[in-house]
Amino acid sequence: MSGAAILELASVSKRFEGLVANSEVSFSVAEGEILGLIGPNGAGKSTLFSLIAGALVPTAGTIRFAGADITALPAPERCRQGIGRTFQVPRSFDSMSVLENVMVGSFVRSSSSSAARAKAAAVLEFVGLAPRAASFAGALTPPEKRRLEVARALATEPKLLLLDEVLAGLTPAEARAGVDLVRAIRARGITVVMVEHVMEIVMPLVDRAVVLDIGRVLAVGSPAEVVRNEAVIAAYLGERHRAA
Ligand SMILES: Nc1ncnc2c1ncn2[C@@H]1O[C@H](COP(=O)(O)OP(=O)(O)O)[C@@H](O)[C@H]1O
Ligand SMILES: [Mg+2]
Repeated sequence: MSGAAILELASVSKRFEGLVANSEVSFSVAEGEILGLIGPNGAGKSTLFSLIAGALVPTAGTIRFAGADITALPAPERCRQGIGRTFQVPRSFDSMSVLENVMVGSFVRSSSSSAARAKAAAVLEFVGLAPRAASFAGALTPPEKRRLEVARALATEPKLLLLDEVLAGLTPAEARAGVDLVRAIRARGITVVMVEHVMEIVMPLVDRAVVLDIGRVLAVGSPAEVVRNEAVIAAYLGERHRAA
C-alpha cells in the first residue's frame, strides 16, 4: 500500500425515513491497500458500499474517488470510472450461463461480444470458475455464486473492488482459497475494501480495518490496534478476542 488515497469519505450519512444507517462516516482508502470493513449486523456496511458504488445517494457528506468528487454520479458512471462491487446476496442471472453472467460485467469496457467473451473467460480462469463456464448460473453452489459475483465485478476492470461477505459460509479450505483470491486481486493492482465477519480470516488479510457500529465509525487502524480497542471489544468482538 502506501499509495495516495483512491477513496475518501467525508462525513457521509444515510438516513432511511427515521433510521440512520450511516452517520458522519469519514475514512480514506489508500491505493493498493486491502481494507476490512467490519462491525455487527445492521451496522451499515452494505449501505456504505451502496453509497460508494452509487446505488444509493448519501443524505449528507462527500465521496471522492481518485481525487474527484463522485457524490452525485450515477452508478454506471462510477463503474466506468473503476468502482466494482459485489452484492451480499448474489445477483446472478440464473437462466444464463456462468460465462454470460460475467460478460455482463465485461461489456462495461468491451464493445464487441467476442472481446467481452474473451475477457469473461479470462476472469473465470482467474477466479477458478472456468470449469463451470457453460453451466447455468442457477446451478452453482452458494460459494460458487459468490465467486461469480467476484468474477462479474472483476470483468468490469475495477481500480477499487468492494467485496460484501464473499467469504461467508465457506469451509476452511474454501475460505483459504478465497483469501488467496483476494491477495491475487490486490497483486493485480486492485484496491480492495471487504466486509467479512470471521476475524481469523479477515485480520491476517487486511492492511487496516474500519469498524462500524450503528452507522458510526468506531475505530480505524491496523488489525492489531483494532482488536485491542476497548470500544470495538465492547460493541463487536466480545471478550473471547481479548486474549487472542
Ligand atoms: N433500503 C433500505 N430501507 C430502509 N432501511 C434500510 C435499507 N437498507 C438498509 N436499511 C437499514 O439500515 C441499517 C444498516 O443496514 P446494512 O447496511 O445492511 O447493515 P450491515 O451490512 O452492516 O449488516 C439496518 O438497520 C437496515 O435495516
Ligand atoms: Mg451487510
